[in-house]
Amino acid sequence: HTHNILLFPGDGIGPEVMAEAVKILNHVASLASVSASHQFHFRSELIGGCSIDEHGKSVTPEVLSIARDWADAVLFAAVGGPKWDSQRRGLDGPEGGLLQVRRALDIYANLRPCAADTPSPSISREFSPFKRDVIEGVDFVVVRENCGGAYFGKKIEDADYAMDEWGYSTAEIQRVTRIAAQLALRHNPPWPVISLDKANVLASSRLWRKVFEQTMQTEFPQVQYMNQLADSASLILAINPRKLNGVLLADNTFGDMISDQAGSIVGTLGVLPSASLNTLPGLPLDAGKKQKALYEPTHGSAPDIAGKNIANPTAMILCVALMFRYSFDMEKEAKQIEDAVRNVLEAGVRTGDLRGTATTKEFGDAVVAELEKI
Ligand code: NAI
Ligand code: MG
Repeated sequence: HTHNILLFPGDGIGPEVMAEAVKILNHVASLASVSASHQFHFRSELIGGCSIDEHGKSVTPEVLSIARDWADAVLFAAVGGPKWDSQRRGLDGPEGGLLQVRRALDIYANLRPCAADTPSPSISREFSPFKRDVIEGVDFVVVRENCGGAYFGKKIEDADYAMDEWGYSTAEIQRVTRIAAQLALRHNPPWPVISLDKANVLASSRLWRKVFEQTMQTEFPQVQYMNQLADSASLILAINPRKLNGVLLADNTFGDMISDQAGSIVGTLGVLPSASLNTLPGLPLDAGKKQKALYEPTHGSAPDIAGKNIANPTAMILCVALMFRYSFDMEKEAKQIEDAVRNVLEAGVRTGDLRGTATTKEFGDAVVAELEKI
């Protein structure tokens, strides 16, 4: 198998954390068991502020077509910084490049795994605001619909009235439900799928619930499912999060809220990876479509610590694990990376944000050394 990977180091700490992720990727790619059947090709391109400086826009049409036509997977670090943020907003700003790439790839399912031991049990114990017995055993993944709903609907913005159209079609609900169900099936026994909505007050939620239930019943009879009102789900997440163990499916708005709230389980967003996908291994693709995915940490470009070799590369490294898992169906390698990161953190090798003294490079080197032991 040949895998084309597009790298977007971006701005601020982006290039520093990306360098460590690539180190891990190269190490795994060079293992005899991997290189016998997998070849990886890399290409690094500009996005965000660095692309604005060079080309006057946050992403060029050429780079967009590389993402669309060449790349099987995209690793994205972070963009933005004070140099650009004040002058440019929205699609013109540094983050506009990321939005355009997401749109071009139609990666409609945003995944955020969240477990009490991500990235390591002692990190959650130290940083989580929750009591230990509340988070112990918490293990779920949020699947947020990422290309529709209120964030992409028609807008009216008058002086005295504003409106965001919050709409979903059957096809949009079906395709993201299939990703959630397929993720559930990756576990043995299958995880339940819990869909969050506000069917009591929103028309879009009523269609969401109906199509979700129909899709689960007809296409995934072996997977349990449940509906949960989104507001009460956030209460449950704060009181008894284990009750939500499984796949949490939500539309763009509710998914945005619940995935940030889920970050509180671990207590620090800086160590959490995310994936945006248009399919999963095991799901049929529409004719003419290719599997596409983008992996990014949940933190930003941290301009306050950029260039000092002190940024935490954990989230970016865990993105590589997610890429192996979801883009290349290489679960063994994904687990190896996650285990290595966990062991390194448990051994006390940590960057400053986790009250340690390791540099960015030292942390990456420690993960490689740990991988060599496994
Ligand atoms: P941020 O996540 O960049 O930083 C928040 C705080 O966390 C800072 O104190 C930073 O030093 C720390 N931090 C973040 N990542 C870290 C890491 N890997 N290791 C150690 N410490 C880390 O968010 P902020 O400050 O709101 O935004 C800074 C810039 O990043 C802005 O220009 C913003 O627009 C951009 N941004 C970009 C995102 C993206 O590329 N997807 C997402 C969020 C913000
Ligand atoms: Mg958010």
